[in-house]
Amino acid sequence: MSPAIALPARVRLVDVGPRDGLQNEKGDVPAEVKVALIGMLADAGLPGIEATSFVSPKWVPQMADAAEVMSRIRRKAGVTYSVLVPNLKGLEGALAAKADEVVVFAAASEAFSQRNINCSIAESIERFRPVVRAALDAGVRVRGAISVALGCPYQGEVPPAAVGEVARRMVDIGVQHCGVADTIGVGTPNATKRAMEAALAAYPLDEVSGHFHDTYGQALANVYACLELGIATFDASVAGLGGCPYAKGATGNVATEDVVYLLHGLGIDTGVDLGRLRAAGRYVCGRLGRPTNSRVARALDAKEGMAT
Ligand code: HMG
Ligand code: MG
Repeated sequence: MSPAIALPARVRLVDVGPRDGLQNEKGDVPAEVKVALIGMLADAGLPGIEATSFVSPKWVPQMADAAEVMSRIRRKAGVTYSVLVPNLKGLEGALAAKADEVVVFAAASEAFSQRNINCSIAESIERFRPVVRAALDAGVRVRGAISVALGCPYQGEVPPAAVGEVARRMVDIGVQHCGVADTIGVGTPNATKRAMEAALAAYPLDEVSGHFHDTYGQALANVYACLELGIATFDASVAGLGGCPYAKGATGNVATEDVVYLLHGLGIDTGVDLGRLRAAGRYVCGRLGRPTNSRVARALDAKEGMAT
């Protein structure tokens, strides 16, 4: 038998549901629902919440209420409220809204970069350079996300070297954290490890995270693969909400409830109260008028005789 691998004792989860989840809704989601959801996630013990994005409302109208949402949330001490920003205009909005952290997002494929942010990878890095500098000058932390790190809807396969190259460019411009994203949920564990290792060549272990959409049902296996590498930060989305408007057919992120259940089952501490998290999921699904995508929430609801 091979020696047991020591998994991290504690994992930090960032719930991206209010942003990655709700950016993909067809109908209008009132700001008050977003605000209530963010409050419930904070009360459930999530240490990080991606609250909204300051992007062009022409591109993503669902996030047009970013300033209103940020002004109405009740901030809980110790919780990091982050927002996506694609350019300096977005950063202005984020700073005015007193976001704790901003997320710049680049792609590991040229085709996706053009579709998602209307520029090449190199241009996106140059666009981020002043954004990162201004954020750091203002004392705001900067995370980076690398989209389509495990496959691209337009280009197909994405080599780990492409992920490593974007990670290096992000380090160069001062991005403090590197999130490796499987936007279309096609990755499997060994491929995930290779992409993560490419990012780890540029970033230390505690500044690399995984962001897995669950389109092909591989996300939990990919989280486990990351744990084996010692990675201890993950994005996830309450009730498995979400997708990306520029990745057709891609489903939501892995459900936070499912990741919490996995981690707690492994004896890994998250600080998250699964019961309260399920309540947040029930609330938002009720308001969206659809069932949860969390297998764990469905199973526990059925066990407890609750309608889902
Ligand atoms: P563009 O059209 O090339 O930019 O878009 P532009 O500078 O020509 O601006 C167009 C219009 O938008 C202008 O308005 C700007 O003022 C306005 P007009 O003059 O025509 O009235 N504008 C803005 N308004 C508010 N806030 C802003 C902003 N910027 C411009 N920040 C741009 C380029 C990058 C702006 C656009 O492509 C964009 O906003 N893209 C965002 C796409 C997006 O949000 N995608 C989803 C998030 S990424 C994701 O989900 C992946 C992730 O989850 C990881 C993963 O799973 O892969 C993170
Ligand atoms: Mg995403």
